[in-house]
Amino acid sequence: MRKINIFDTTLRDGEQSAGVNLNLHEKLEIARQLERLGVDIIEAGFPAASKGDFQAVQAIAQTVRNCSVTGLSRSVQSDIDAAWEALKDGAEPRLHVFIATSPIHMQYKLRMTPEQVIETAVESVRYAKKYFPIVQWSAEDACRSDLPFLATIIERVIEAGANVINIPDTVGYITPKQYGDIFSFLKKNVRNIEKINLSAHCHDDLGMAVANSLAAIEAGATQIEGTINGIGERAGNAAIEEVAVALYIRKDYYQAETGLNLQEIKRTSNLVSKLTGMIVPPNKAIVGKNAFAHESGIHQDGVLKEKTTYEIISPQLVGVQSNSMVLGKHSGRHAFRTRIQELGYALTEEEVNRLFVRFKDLADKKKDITDDDLIALILDEKLDTYKNFYQLCSIQVQYGTNQIPTAVVVLKDGEGNDIQEAATGAGSVEALYNALEKALQLPVTLLDYRIESVGSGRDALAQVYVKVSLDGKEASGRGTAQDVLEASAKAYIHAVNRMFVIEKMKEEQALAAQ
Ligand code: KIV
Ligand code: ZN
Repeated sequence: MRKINIFDTTLRDGEQSAGVNLNLHEKLEIARQLERLGVDIIEAGFPAASKGDFQAVQAIAQTVRNCSVTGLSRSVQSDIDAAWEALKDGAEPRLHVFIATSPIHMQYKLRMTPEQVIETAVESVRYAKKYFPIVQWSAEDACRSDLPFLATIIERVIEAGANVINIPDTVGYITPKQYGDIFSFLKKNVRNIEKINLSAHCHDDLGMAVANSLAAIEAGATQIEGTINGIGERAGNAAIEEVAVALYIRKDYYQAETGLNLQEIKRTSNLVSKLTGMIVPPNKAIVGKNAFAHESGIHQDGVLKEKTTYEIISPQLVGVQSNSMVLGKHSGRHAFRTRIQELGYALTEEEVNRLFVRFKDLADKKKDITDDDLIALILDEKLDTYKNFYQLCSIQVQYGTNQIPTAVVVLKDGEGNDIQEAATGAGSVEALYNALEKALQLPVTLLDYRIESVGSGRDALAQVYVKVSLDGKEASGRGTAQDVLEASAKAYIHAVNRMFVIEKMKEEQALAAQ
């Protein structure tokens, strides 16, 4: 079996998804879970892009010990310097440096000749090698590049010291056969190519990212780049879980394997979906709610007689639990703490204590507390990092079929002052949001509102995701509660607080740059 390295870019290309902005705590949470999943490389961000990105990449490099952590860099020395500062404490610092190689990008975006592009690429790799033991070089828009030119520039960057060569299908244009042919061409025409790792990076604009990645493996790629749930720029990237499970289930055909702990897939998918607010479609392969649901009578009958009639992947393989452990109101602090640890969360004693109070409160209203409920509570508790901004104290909403919905809200501002406001609306959520807007005295526009339940049952927790804009800036937020209106209010306040944090960081950055 050939070993295929998995390069996860959920925190870089994935975070470039429209409307997604993760804070440092959320990025760290995802990085820890990616480590548990067993990816080989985590692309933690783009350190030169912003102070927030730099801090997140640095914190992840300092925390994660079992994977290599990398950061993206343009082919300029200041980007490489920033990346080194952020990554130098990592277990295996690695740089990901790129430049575009297609005629369309070189002419219109870079305004450089092909010779200048070669020179810049070689220079950047040489410079990076002064710091980094491992340098990955990417030919942006490789799939629309002239192949002999691509071969020449790759040969030159390998001479300069590149250890990994990545062939991105930046715009999701290539077909599986063509992509495989590019890898075969490069293997035949680039001197010393056998000394480096060849990587595939596919976007899903034509829905072929996973098929293209698998075609690259067949043609000799030894590394696949992608994201959890396939999130990413535009239509997204190749979904790592799909590539890994395809290799596992069809090892007879591909004769290749990843080092992923497949049982961590479902949990990783849930976490990424919760923190990014990008809901996984029910019919999504491997991690969708319906991926293992048999609806037709004929299929159900077949599965009852013999699972493999209609099931090529067992839900347990990817960590879908049919009997996840249940806690209830009689569960003690010890069982509670143990379950949190078993779920892989490292919480301080103070956090456990705070969470235990909320758990008991929930257990009074909800009979069984499942792992999904616990995770929702933990992630909600971790949202509580905005102590200096607005806090929701209480809401009261009145609704009747023949009444005008009315909401009263009480908030605390950063100085501890209570603010109370009331408003009406066409529906309960609108009344609530109108009251919150009045209390905040900010012209907040709601761009997106989504709601889903955590698990099933009438008493399930509600999880609300919102996207808001204020003065042309956007932020997303989420809230969990047993009541949909409380979850809605929490999500709104979370988004507004995040907006302030992002703005505060930008101001600090501007001051530091002066
Ligand atoms: O899609 C792409 O080309 C990229 C590069 C920066 C590797 O994400
Ligand atoms: Zn990309």
